[in-house]
Amino acid sequence: MGGASLPEPWGYPWGPFGHLPRWAGEPLALLEEGAALGFLFGLRLGHRAVVGFSPAWNRLLLSDLKTLRSRGSLSSLTPYLNGGVITTDAPLHKPQREALNPLFHARALATLEERLQEALAAIRPQGAFEAVAWASKAAQTGLNLLYFEGRFPPALLARFLAPLKRPFPAPLVPRPLLFLRVRRVVRALQQDGWGLAARLPLEEVMVGLAAGYDTTAHTLAWALWHAALYPQWATPQGLPLLLKETLRLYPPGFVGSRRVAHDLVWEGHFIPKGALALYSPYLTHRHPEFWSNPLVFDPARFLGRVPAWGYLPFGGGERICLGMHFAQMVLRVALGLFPRLRPLRGDPRPKPALTLAPAGELWVEA
Ligand code: HEM
Repeated sequence: MGGASLPEPWGYPWGPFGHLPRWAGEPLALLEEGAALGFLFGLRLGHRAVVGFSPAWNRLLLSDLKTLRSRGSLSSLTPYLNGGVITTDAPLHKPQREALNPLFHARALATLEERLQEALAAIRPQGAFEAVAWASKAAQTGLNLLYFEGRFPPALLARFLAPLKRPFPAPLVPRPLLFLRVRRVVRALQQDGWGLAARLPLEEVMVGLAAGYDTTAHTLAWALWHAALYPQWATPQGLPLLLKETLRLYPPGFVGSRRVAHDLVWEGHFIPKGALALYSPYLTHRHPEFWSNPLVFDPARFLGRVPAWGYLPFGGGERICLGMHFAQMVLRVALGLFPRLRPLRGDPRPKPALTLAPAGELWVEA
C-alpha cells in the first residue's frame, strides 16, 4: 500500500452507508465540500471512490482507458445506459467508436438540419411557455428525427424516456416490459430502413436515445432562459458563446466515473484496484483556479483561451460524447427559433438527478 490517505467530507461513519445517503440526496453539496479539502478526495459510495477535478486528473481519467474502465462504473447502475458503446472498454472501444463516429459527424448530420428546423418550427410555442417542458419535447423530436426519421410513436418515446428526468431511484429501476416494447418497435423501424437506427446495432440506438435526451433537454432549457436574460448574446454571433457558457455553469453530466483496473498511485495517493474514480465537470468548471469569477455568467470568457482539460461538458478523449455535434445542432436550431425572448419567472439553480436539471420551471415569453 503506501501513500497519504485521502481527505473525505462528512459522511456516516458506521455501517455500509458512508456517503451514500448524502450522494443520493445532495451530491452537489457533498462534491463542493470534498473539493474544499483538496484536488483529490475520497467518498464511500458502497465502494471506495476517489473524486478529482484538476485538469491533470481529467486527462488521466479520460485518456488512460486501459486503467480506467467504463464497465462497472456508475452508468452501469441504470438499465438506460448499461450497454452499447457506453460499457465497451479498451481494446474494443476504439474500433467501435471508429465505426460510429462518421455517422455522428457534423458533416454527416448537415443533411438533417433543414428537417430539424421544420420539425422544431412546427412545435414552436407562441407567447408565454415553460422552457424545461418545451425543451424536453424538442429533444425528443430531434432524437426521433435522427434515429427514425420521425417514425417512432411519440407517446411511447416520451414514456420510455420520462424516468431519466425523474428523481432517484426512478432512472435506476428496471422496466423490462417497457424496454421489450421499445426494442420491438426499434427493430421494426430498423428492418424498414428508417433513419440512423437502420445503420446501427439495436443496443446503440437504445443507449443513444437515453444518453441524448435529458442532457440535451436540460441544456436547451438553461440556454433559453439565459438567452432571455442576456438578449445581447442572443444573436447569431453571440449564441455559440452563450451555449458554451451555459454548458460551463450547468454541465448536465456533472460527474463521470470509471472503475480502476489495477492499483494506482496518483500524486502520492494510493488508489486500489476496483475503486470508483470520478471526474466532475461541475467542479472543474466552477473552480477559481481554472476560471476567473467562475460563478458569473459571462459568454465573453470564451473569446479567450479555454484551459486544457478544464472544460469538458462533453467529456474528452476517445470517449468524448458521440452525440456532441447532434446536440449542438439541436441547440442551435432550437435557439434560432426565438430571436427575442423575455424572462418571466423561474428557478435555474442546478438540481442533480441522473444528470443536472434546472431546480424549477423556467417561464419565458416568445
Ligand atoms: C448537451 C447534450 C449532451 C451532453 C452535455 C452530453 C455529455 C456527455 C458526456 C460528458 C459524455 C462522456 C461521459 C464519460 O466519458 O464519462 C458523453 C458520452 C456519450 N454521449 Fe453525450 N451528451 C449530450 C448529448 C448526447 C446525444 C444527443 C447523444 C446521442 C445522440 C449522446 C450520446 C452519447 C454516447 C453514446 C456517449 C458514450 C460515448 C463513449 O463512451 O464512447 N450524447 N456525453
